[in-house]
Amino acid sequence: MKLSARKILLCVSGGIAAYKAIDLVSRLTKSGAEVKTLMTDGALEFIKPVNFSAITRGSVHSSLFSDADPIPHINLADWADLMVVAPATANVMAKAAQGISDDLLSATMLAHNKPILFVPAMNVHMFENPATQSNIKVLQERGHLILEPDTGMLACGYTGKGKFPPVEEILWAISLYLSHKQDLKGIRVLLTAGACVENIDPMRCITNRSSGKMGLALARALYLRGADLTLVHAQMDFPVPYYLRRAIKAESAAEMNTAVLANAKDQDWIVMCAAVSDFTPKAPAQEKIKKGSDIILDLVQTTDILACLGREKTSEQILIGFAAETSDLITNAKAKLEKKNLDMIAANHLGVAGKNETSLNLISASGNKTLQGDKFSVALELIDEIKSYYDKETDGSNA
Ligand code: C5P
Repeated sequence: MKLSARKILLCVSGGIAAYKAIDLVSRLTKSGAEVKTLMTDGALEFIKPVNFSAITRGSVHSSLFSDADPIPHINLADWADLMVVAPATANVMAKAAQGISDDLLSATMLAHNKPILFVPAMNVHMFENPATQSNIKVLQERGHLILEPDTGMLACGYTGKGKFPPVEEILWAISLYLSHKQDLKGIRVLLTAGACVENIDPMRCITNRSSGKMGLALARALYLRGADLTLVHAQMDFPVPYYLRRAIKAESAAEMNTAVLANAKDQDWIVMCAAVSDFTPKAPAQEKIKKGSDIILDLVQTTDILACLGREKTSEQILIGFAAETSDLITNAKAKLEKKNLDMIAANHLGVAGKNETSLNLISASGNKTLQGDKFSVALELIDEIKSYYDKETDGSNA
């Protein structure tokens, strides 16, 4: 991920997860971002500022009155492209919601006139307390961004929601919010991802080289931009992000067909990024096939899910397919666009499977555009294209 020359003000408040912000600041610095650090008095109880000053090569700001700058809250607020409060305690979010300004962080939040990204981490009861939830709601209504906590074993000994998210997920969120807003609120999206797996016997299977990276990049970008997302996924090399509550596992083409058709109705966009198997063993063996003699695999065609969706598409729905090809990319993709009644098709050469970078030819009835770069940036651009097509189709009622 590249965040070259973007100005991030990392604000660390006083929770046990404060030490995890050290990894975050290191990853941000390595990504090319310019980072300044602000710590609350609570954070100073947990970790020393030198952790941040050594990594950012800059001093850490913690006092409203004894900083080298006479007005640190104004200058830090003006300087930052994005303020990230990680970890964000219940106290800090309460102050932000109420407009209290009694220390450097709260004064800087008040002086900052852009959305702030909060990464709450705390005890599950503190997080679920109606006071905290209502403060979060107020902050969201004002356009601030809350990356919800992960669920699991907490430092306090409880198990529940309140964990500091994996640093990777915070980096995706930062990268997204630097360039995009939550512009997909109210849009329902069904997305498929991953490589389907067809059983030959209980041990052996047929699958393909899709890693799920492009699908996961789309899932993250759709969720963070506010879409109401349902992910149907087959096998992927990486876990489903913890915040995707509607993630349905469907390994084989038949399972994916059932899961997609059950969820297709009422979706505004259907994006079929999964590498669905085109063939499956006619009669998978129930017992492991013994070696000792040659066997012939009898393969039958699977149901073409995308073609079914194309036939049943409503006038309010848009349908986007993917096409991976070894030759005649554009000609083959254009033929699929028409045959399967799609609004758009994203075509790529097979070489990008498993890679971090991709090159997609996005084809619609109105033309052809190339999207290139790391898969997350391409996902964002692809969503921009889908959104502008959708806004036109719906007469701008979603713009
Ligand atoms: O025709 P082809 O299989 O190459 O088209 C690829 C597109 O069709 C992808 O979007 C894939 O998710 C979808 N597909 C499908 N059902 C299949 C095979 C592919 O929906 N059985």
